[in-house]
Amino acid sequence: MFDTTLRDGEQSPGASMTLEEKLEVADILDALGVDVIEAGFPIASQGDFESVSEVAKRVKTGSVAGLARASEKDIDRCAEALRDAKRPRIHTFISTSPLHMKYKLQMEPERVLEMVASSVSRARNHVEDVEWSAEDGTRTEFEFLCRAVEIAIRAGATTINIPDTVGYTTPAEYESLLTRLREAVPNADKAIFSVHCHNDLGLAVANSLAGVRAGARQIECTINGIGERAGNAALEEIVMAMRTRPDALPFHTGIETKLLTRASKLVSAVTSFPVQYNKAIVGRNAFAHESGIHQDGMLKNAFTYEIMTPESVGVAKTALVMGKHSGRHAFREKLKELGYELGDNALEDAFKRFKDLADRKKIVYDDDLIALVDDEIVNA
Ligand code: KIV
Ligand code: ZN
Repeated sequence: MFDTTLRDGEQSPGASMTLEEKLEVADILDALGVDVIEAGFPIASQGDFESVSEVAKRVKTGSVAGLARASEKDIDRCAEALRDAKRPRIHTFISTSPLHMKYKLQMEPERVLEMVASSVSRARNHVEDVEWSAEDGTRTEFEFLCRAVEIAIRAGATTINIPDTVGYTTPAEYESLLTRLREAVPNADKAIFSVHCHNDLGLAVANSLAGVRAGARQIECTINGIGERAGNAALEEIVMAMRTRPDALPFHTGIETKLLTRASKLVSAVTSFPVQYNKAIVGRNAFAHESGIHQDGMLKNAFTYEIMTPESVGVAKTALVMGKHSGRHAFREKLKELGYELGDNALEDAFKRFKDLADRKKIVYDDDLIALVDDEIVNA
């Protein structure tokens, strides 16, 4: 697992973090067991340089990566920032799609290939662990992508990343691209293939998993899926998909899943990016049930409506939220939890009054219930 919350995640408009906040995030990523932490883009600013060097000094377990364009200055600055890392990685990239080469780089394709070779070799002179990315890889001509990947591996790249930079691909197409690429590039077995998917069509996690099915063994993602535009693939979703469905996705990540909720809350707090209520795994409603039918099922057997336990992702317990869809069974259990055991008539009365209240209020809080039952007892 390659986490880029501190680099691509921070590129979300408005998500910038201070050095102290980045160190807190780096600590939790390390505790989660992330294999590679991409700490920033050292050439981008003095602040980015400092945060990459501080993260590099601090991380105990994972590798620390810095991003660099295919230029000598970028690569040398990145190497300097990573000087104190136990396991430094330089991640260098250049665009390979016709659109990016023509308009963004304004470079001939042959010149781009030369730069792939020179940038990777330069990075290899600094560190042993070099990742090369074909920016806009999924909109790149296949033959050209094969040539670029072959050159990068020959120049010493140990990881080859094929980003879906603009979130354009689909699972079947991405799976096929990675499969064909690994078959067509003669030295493909000398590198680990990696996926890096953006979420413009809401397919980032599905595409990443499809890439893994095609043999990719590194997944680039972020906590809460933050990142450029619609974001990157969400780490917590990928990890829990593999953990929950080992039959369909027989892969293992080594992530300490009990820390996922804590990591999500921390990233949300330091970036001031709220997590949507219905976000998979870490959203406030991911383990909450309001409807009577679901609450009744949950009280009989939690697996009726939950495919993973809340404890497995660090949530204390399932929440039975009291609202207008809730039924008697959940109402009685909720009162029991609050310390009230009512007789059948009082319970029926209180339930009716609760339903009236729930029609007026979106959520009925514990305090509302306490007030309602106390009133019931006083008036009995
Ligand atoms: O989306 C992208 O292409 C990137 C690269 C720099 C890896 O973030
Ligand atoms: Zn990206």
